[in-house]
Amino acid sequence: MSSHGASIPMTSRPCGPLKGEARVPGDKSISHRSLILGALCVGETEITGLLEGQDVLDTAKAMRAFGAEVTDHGGGNWSVHGVGVGGFAEPEQVIDCGNSGTGVRLIMGAMATSPIAATFTGDASLNGRPMARVTDPLALFGTQAFGRAGGRLPMTILGAADPVPVTYTVPVPSAQVKSAVLLAGLNAPGKTVVIEAEATRDHTERMLKGFGAEITVEETDEGRVITLTGQPELKPQKIDVPRDPSSAAFPVCAALIVPGSDVLVPGIGLNPTRAGLYNTLREMGADLTYENERTEGGEPVADLRARFSPEMKGIEVPPERAASMIDEYPVLSVVAAFAQGETVMRGVKELRVKESDRIDAMAVGLRANGITVDEGPDWWTVTGLGHGNVPGGATSASHLDHRIAMSFLILGMAAQKPVSVDDGGPIATSFPIFEPLMSELGAHLVRDNA
Ligand code: S3P
Repeated sequence: MSSHGASIPMTSRPCGPLKGEARVPGDKSISHRSLILGALCVGETEITGLLEGQDVLDTAKAMRAFGAEVTDHGGGNWSVHGVGVGGFAEPEQVIDCGNSGTGVRLIMGAMATSPIAATFTGDASLNGRPMARVTDPLALFGTQAFGRAGGRLPMTILGAADPVPVTYTVPVPSAQVKSAVLLAGLNAPGKTVVIEAEATRDHTERMLKGFGAEITVEETDEGRVITLTGQPELKPQKIDVPRDPSSAAFPVCAALIVPGSDVLVPGIGLNPTRAGLYNTLREMGADLTYENERTEGGEPVADLRARFSPEMKGIEVPPERAASMIDEYPVLSVVAAFAQGETVMRGVKELRVKESDRIDAMAVGLRANGITVDEGPDWWTVTGLGHGNVPGGATSASHLDHRIAMSFLILGMAAQKPVSVDDGGPIATSFPIFEPLMSELGAHLVRDNA
């Protein structure tokens, strides 16, 4: 079953060169935050380029349930008429966040310091994921959480009526946890401080500043110390959502492994907290260039040009880079299968608690397709077979995980035999135009039930 309906089995056949321009959709992280921060302002935030994937649509619906007016004007143009910090109404129904860990964790944070209750649920993947990493720090504000065993959804959150500000050191490298604490800190008096030992994506900090909050970031020996002054009056913004570097990874990686390919992926944000994959691919010897480098909305942006790269070598990916490419390891493991030698990925324990256990899901599927994978609790290795030598031929389970489904379909484009997934439905959570976009470039993707 996909997150919102029947399974969609899909097959990707070996294809000729991928050519052309891949205009990938808006950034998922920034899209969620645009809707949530828009809902926490008084007045109208205008958003262009919003990702209209199911994850973000579920967050839009949730913001309506908390009292914001969220309007879809078509073509990725949206507006949010917010209720202000502390202005959330109590939802009348259960909030269904579908497949989205980012959605549920950020929204829990955003409502945690208002005197309301809300019950959250999701699909089978989301309801299996750990929420204590968010509810533990929220408890310090005075928020209560009543969930299933192991801190799982469905879960009711009872917001703190008299929240106190909090100082919290994030124990795992997680932008979702950091963001939940900062969003809760918005409606607490005084200063909320979040300390992260490893830098994770910093969209929440940047956007809070953009919305007019008083927030400072200091690099110290302990890590990044983020200090937010509570109870600001956030000012509505005009937000142009950049294209998603995590979605760009799929056409880029496909072009690197399919003979003769030359693909341009325009307008991709290269914020250092997100660009780890591209540094890694270049170190492996990928023919990946940045064209038209510029700054947009304070972020480094470039057009990525990826060409077929038959001479890539396996490398050891530095563990300190993990947070900046955490969503890209599945597709990196596919590229690694086509490189020469071993690719070693360490410090990636977080991959085990994503939409699926991504190490396990990729290891099982890659092995079924003829690739040697070794794994431990927080590391894995892929032994590359070199260009032209990857067998393929298997059907893999996508485990309700969009990035697992897309990664195996990319594998099928350059393997000797077609590669299938049991369910491509979850792709719609983050990259609803994946099939037409990849087909336009020259991929052979089919829905097996169609
Ligand atoms: C995200 C943070 C990451 C990432 C997810 C989006 C965000 O999760 O995997 O896809 O927007 O904050 P973690 O915070 O759990 O690492």
